[in-house]
Amino acid sequence: MKSRTAKESLSIATDLVLPSDTNALNGMFGGELLSRMDRICCIAAQRHSGHIAVTVSVNHVAFTNPVPLGSTVTIEAKVSRAFGSSMEIYADVWIEDRLSGKRTKVNEGIYTFVALDKDRNKVAVPELIPETPLEKQRYGAALRRRQLSLVLSGKLEAKEATEIRSLFD
Ligand SMILES: CC(C)(COP(=O)(O)OP(=O)(O)OC[C@H]1O[C@@H](n2cnc3c(N)ncnc32)[C@H](O)[C@@H]1OP(=O)(O)O)[C@@H](O)C(=O)NCCC(=O)NCCS
Repeated sequence: MKSRTAKESLSIATDLVLPSDTNALNGMFGGELLSRMDRICCIAAQRHSGHIAVTVSVNHVAFTNPVPLGSTVTIEAKVSRAFGSSMEIYADVWIEDRLSGKRTKVNEGIYTFVALDKDRNKVAVPELIPETPLEKQRYGAALRRRQLSLVLSGKLEAKEATEIRSLFD
């Protein structure tokens, strides 16, 4: 199976924040952002694998900045690492100033998707080749995030999480 670069999976969604997307403080509702990130991460996973991809885990989400009503929001998603049938996808969230067009990064999310065939059987995915310094950094850390997520979901014994344990040795 031919390996693919991270940028081949790049998927971008730009949309507005409308009143029905907001909380009582006129900021974007967290669940709305999660849903938008999930959709664009799914497209990135499907571009990488060439198969149907389903969310198996949301590994990390940081709502570090509110996204005000009326904002133009852009979410950029790329596969950060591929394993057997699973792929880690990183979503970076930006808002842009209406007048200057200057972009500010406001949030990020990290999702794991699994590639399936039409009968829901797992499918092996191509290896991911990271190219830029950021892609390489995310690729390296993805192994630790995978082990942590598997430990938290009860699918891996903590004592087998060698990448995480090595951080504390
Ligand atoms: C995704 C699904 C097919 C996985 O089935 P499963 O029998 O649990 O499969 P496995 O335990 O072998 O896991 C499959 C892969 O996902 C990875 N995985 C499973 N749980 C994970 C987790 N919590 N975090 C990170 N990776 C995880 C496994 O490591 C494995 O990766 P690999 O093939 O690259 O080694 C199954 O759980 C499913 O259908 N879930 C529902 C998906 C869905 O509908 N999502 C939308 C939510 S509404």
